[in-house]
Amino acid sequence: MRDETLAIHGGYEADSTRAVAVPIYQTVAHEFIDADHAGAIMDLESPGFHYNRINNPTVDVLEQRLTALEGGVGAMAVGSGSAAVSMSVLNLVSAGDNFVSVPQLYGATYTYFAHVLPTLGVEVRFAADDRPDSIAARIDGRTKAVFCETVGNPAGNVIDLAAVAEMAHGLGVPVIADNTVATPFLLKPFAHGADVVVHSLTKFVGGHGTTLGGMIIDGGTFPWADHPERFGFMIEPEPAFHGVRYASEFSDAAYITRCRTVGLRNTGASLSPFNAFLHLQGLETLAVRLPRHEANSRTVAAFLAAHPQVASVSFLGFPDNPYYELARRYLGDRVPSILTFTVRGGRTAGIAVFNRVKLFKRLLNMGDAKSLITHPASTTHRQLTPDDLKLAGITPDMVRLSIGLEHPDDLIEDLDQALAAAAADAD
Ligand SMILES: Cc1ncc(COP(=O)(O)O)c(C=O)c1O
Repeated sequence: MRDETLAIHGGYEADSTRAVAVPIYQTVAHEFIDADHAGAIMDLESPGFHYNRINNPTVDVLEQRLTALEGGVGAMAVGSGSAAVSMSVLNLVSAGDNFVSVPQLYGATYTYFAHVLPTLGVEVRFAADDRPDSIAARIDGRTKAVFCETVGNPAGNVIDLAAVAEMAHGLGVPVIADNTVATPFLLKPFAHGADVVVHSLTKFVGGHGTTLGGMIIDGGTFPWADHPERFGFMIEPEPAFHGVRYASEFSDAAYITRCRTVGLRNTGASLSPFNAFLHLQGLETLAVRLPRHEANSRTVAAFLAAHPQVASVSFLGFPDNPYYELARRYLGDRVPSILTFTVRGGRTAGIAVFNRVKLFKRLLNMGDAKSLITHPASTTHRQLTPDDLKLAGITPDMVRLSIGLEHPDDLIEDLDQALAAAAADAD
């Protein structure tokens, strides 16, 4: 099946009720037939559901659908994108380890890496920028992963994933890529060498600003068993779960199996069946929503670029964007509907536009059917120091737009009146 079809049918076969929509299995547990059945399920010897902190039939369909769309071998849903980010790295690190991250990250991811993981003895080494050489310079024998966003939020950088993956694999290190901004319809990280993909489903997949969710997908590509010095825990018996040996017993699904048996089982950051159902509804229309998001964002970007009060526009669809070539290589002729701009008059003028919009919603989300506006330096990235902001590709005057599905003329009229009102405020 092609992507558009997978997004609607992937991972679901109706049971005896012949329900066409994926049913919401709103239950905490599933009854065992007998003790042997219980043992076989608990030891992962036979597939099945037993307790919904660990798996659930509705959530399972969403996991299979994202696995198929990304081209992975297995996936695990969690309650939010942040849970996906944190669990994706916690699955590989212990106190004393490190991993290397690009600096262009979503704000809460940056804060978690910079200020929370170090308190657990995990060092997150930020590369000076997103180039393979800069990342390689920070890798050593205790490095367990490289973390990046395929398209950075809100910096809008496009990682040269194939080059980063080749470098990291040469040093025996897997690559985790957050594909939230691009979605699997615009970019397939596994095809370019990523080993693990994470998503905030909260954004484009859900698509309507109603539901938090996250997903971790295993590409099944990384040869854990070839690196016993670095990934012994994938080879040795797992003390936290029935002594299983992930690499030999689950081969290419070793990473995602450990994620579930150790990560999800113990953190309990599960996605609820109802929220999985809502994400399934969103996913069904993602393929037709994205082109409208994109067309609207091209119209808005062109309007802003031509506006005398606008100082700069950062949009991946513009040939003068520093990441234009990489965007062409990795996204083809498509672009995400996230863009940033600055207004003449700097930070104060940017905040004035933010304050003066009427149709755009002032909030922290993106990827909604509704158009959204954010001032990253005072919201999502508020906790960053001026130096960290610069490293993350955020300027104090930057305003970020997530372009929705409204009529583009209404969006332009709103921005036009907000720019005029902001100018009047400044007089
Ligand atoms: C790129 C990226 N990753 C992860 C997250 C975290 O997702 P959530 O808000 O679902 O926890 C976000 C949130 O904006 C994001 O933009």
